[in-house]
Formats: sequence, C-alpha cells, structure tokens
Amino acid sequence: LGPQRAAEVRSLIRDVPGFPHEPIIFRDITPMLADGAALADVVEAFARLCEGPDGHAIDVVAGMEARGFLLGAPLATRLGVGFVPLRKAGKLPPPVERVSYDLEYGSAAIELRTGTLPVGARVLLVDDVLATGGTAAAAAQLVERSGGEVVAAAFLMELAGLGGRERLSGRVVETLLRVE
Ligand code: PRP
Repeated sequence: LGPQRAAEVRSLIRDVPGFPHEPIIFRDITPMLADGAALADVVEAFARLCEGPDGHAIDVVAGMEARGFLLGAPLATRLGVGFVPLRKAGKLPPPVERVSYDLEYGSAAIELRTGTLPVGARVLLVDDVLATGGTAAAAAQLVERSGGEVVAAAFLMELAGLGGRERLSGRVVETLLRVE
C-alpha cells in the first residue's frame, strides 16, 4: 500500500476504546472488509509480498481465527495456494495439534487438524492485528509442530509498543500499516 492508500485503509479501521474491556482499544476492521476496493487492495498488498524474485515463496497460507480467516482465505485464492485455519481450542474434531499461550488475563489455545499441513510446507501466517504477538508466536509454534516451515508472518496492522515484533524476533514480520 502506498502512503496515501494506507491512510485511506487506516481510516476504514475503527478504533473502539474500552472494548471488550479497558484498557483495550479494539481495532474493528469490518468497515474495511465492507469496502470492496479496500479489501481488494489489502489482499493485493499481501499477495505482492509473495511475488517476484524477492517475494516469499510459500505453499500454504495459514490464518488465525477469526479475522485471519477473512484476509488469509482470499489471499490464498489470489496466490493459488491452499488455506489452513488455525482455530481456537475445541472447534476442530480430533485429532489435533494444540499450542497454549498466555493472555494478559488468563490463557488460550489454538489448534490445527493433524495431517492438514503437508510436511515441509512453506507457510505464510496471516492475521489482522499484531499486538502482543502472543497469538502469532503460538501460531508459528503450532505450524512448526505440525511439520510446516513458517516463512513469514504478515499482518494488516501492527500496534507498535505492545511488544509483538520483539516476541517474534528471529522471524520475518511483514505489516501493511503501523499504528503508534
Ligand atoms: C485479535 C487479533 C489477533 C490477536 C492479536 O484476535 O485478531 O488474532 O487478537 O493479539 P496478540 O498479538 O496480543 O496476540 P482475537 O483474540 O480478538 O480473536 P478474534 O479474531 O476471533 O476476534
């Protein structure tokens, strides 16, 4: 996304302070999703990360529930590769691989259906927001435990200052928008 388009897309993401509770500022991407041109431009910007001689060569897109599905599935279609959903615990029938991780309050787990990911598959992780990086770090671990190789993690929006990039240090992190 060029600077002007990035600003326009950013204006379609609504900041909702205090939702679902303080001190979280919820980043609501539904206005962006509802705008056909913005959605297409975002998917295209992700796709360009995986094209050309310097692009990431990938076999599969893996998206984190739930908003990673909304961006990852159209991206996979655009690139002509498969899509693997990384689901919140208890949604997929067994057998599954599971990785648990800590949240600010409590813990969570994500799961991947055993055998979904071809062994050695080069995977691009996709999600809407990089905040603390807990979800993405767990997702990367889950993919690796399942035999995949995480080539890069790509996010629509990086919330700077919450430690996400540091949590993913040593991994390739791509973000289309950065919010200070
Ligand atoms: C949000 C967002 C990322 C994650 C980022 O998902 O879509 O997946 O939080 O936060 P982190 O970097 O601190 O882990 P949420 O858990 O709200 O799930 P949802 O997409 O199902 O609403």
